[in-house]
Amino acid sequence: MDAAELGFEPAVSATGAPTARTSGATARATRSPRRRRRARSGGGLRRRLGAAAVLIAALCAMGGSYAMFAASSGAAGTGSSTADIEAGRQLYQVGCITCHGANLDGVKGNGPSIIGSGSASVYFQVSTGRMPLARQGAYAPRKEAKYNETQTEQLGAYIQSVGGGPTVPVGKLESSSAQIGKGGELFRLNCASCHGATFHGAPLSGGKIAPSLLDANDKQIYTAMLSGPENMPVFSDNTITPAQKKQIIGYIQTLKASQDPGGNGIARIGPVSEAIVIWVGGVGALMISILWIGARAR
Ligand code: HEC
Ligand code: HEC
Repeated sequence: MDAAELGFEPAVSATGAPTARTSGATARATRSPRRRRRARSGGGLRRRLGAAAVLIAALCAMGGSYAMFAASSGAAGTGSSTADIEAGRQLYQVGCITCHGANLDGVKGNGPSIIGSGSASVYFQVSTGRMPLARQGAYAPRKEAKYNETQTEQLGAYIQSVGGGPTVPVGKLESSSAQIGKGGELFRLNCASCHGATFHGAPLSGGKIAPSLLDANDKQIYTAMLSGPENMPVFSDNTITPAQKKQIIGYIQTLKASQDPGGNGIARIGPVSEAIVIWVGGVGALMISILWIGARAR
């Protein structure tokens, strides 16, 4: 039995949408004389309609799970839905408004304006547990995050939608290991003076400290560079290009992994690989259902 007999090549368009007209046409073209006789009897038509319904259901299920995945991994600010923004607004009103104000323009004596901080700064501050600030005047150290990943994205989506600013980067944020030499140069030039050559951090003047980088994940390092918290300078994409930021991250994470034999950091491969797993799994499930339909329709 060949592919055309199973009917699985033209049943699905390149975009994954069912193409009713082409699949009908090829069904006609590839139907054998024996099957044409059966089809005229009426049972074949019902079976084909049943098969089409199953195929459409499978496609919908796959599309739905893909959309769910895409929504959860999409960066705040790039593809955030109005529902995310609304959820973020509600979180903001409970957790942030007393210090940053109803219009994000800050509250004198409590917190600065965060207009233009963008979802990048929100991600950095909230995912590292610095925000919400526990009490006014305290140095904001890294601590246990109070909001989960989704809530953090929702807060970012809301603050982005009101004030704009740099957005959270998406995709793979580490360069390939071939480029970590360049990353090392950039790190020594731009970061080591404050964070130390071994990432353990160092005291700065005026009682401030540049913290250790050992706990920071890719996205936190990236958004730290984009937002420049406290005494840290902002490294805009003009100063350090996105490709160079990825080289720096690759360098930090690779060296960290070699300093700390405990983890090989599979999680750091990031959402790209998850997308592939889900995509491949989804397509696999689809293929199985198509083969099954094909087998039943014989
Ligand atoms: C108790 C007051 C307080 C609360 C509550 C608070 N913040 Fe802050 N926030 C501050 C202060 C003060 C700063 C500046 C100090 C600093 O950068 O460490 C700040 C800084 C920030 C910044 C960085 C601004 C920039 O671009 O440099 C962001 C973003 C931010 N807060 C977001 C939030 C969010 C989101 C919440 C709610 C989850 C929140 N904050 C809750 C007081 C507060
Ligand atoms: C002038 C000193 C200075 C330089 C240069 C600097 N930083 Fe920072 N960095 C800081 C300070 C201060 C903080 C803490 C900010 C805070 O607590 O809000 C920080 C925080 C961070 C954090 C958060 C760490 C954590 O887990 O809490 C990361 C990541 C980071 N910096 C990366 C970098 C990278 C990458 C560079 C070079 C491109 C760099 N920094 C250059 C001073 C500096």
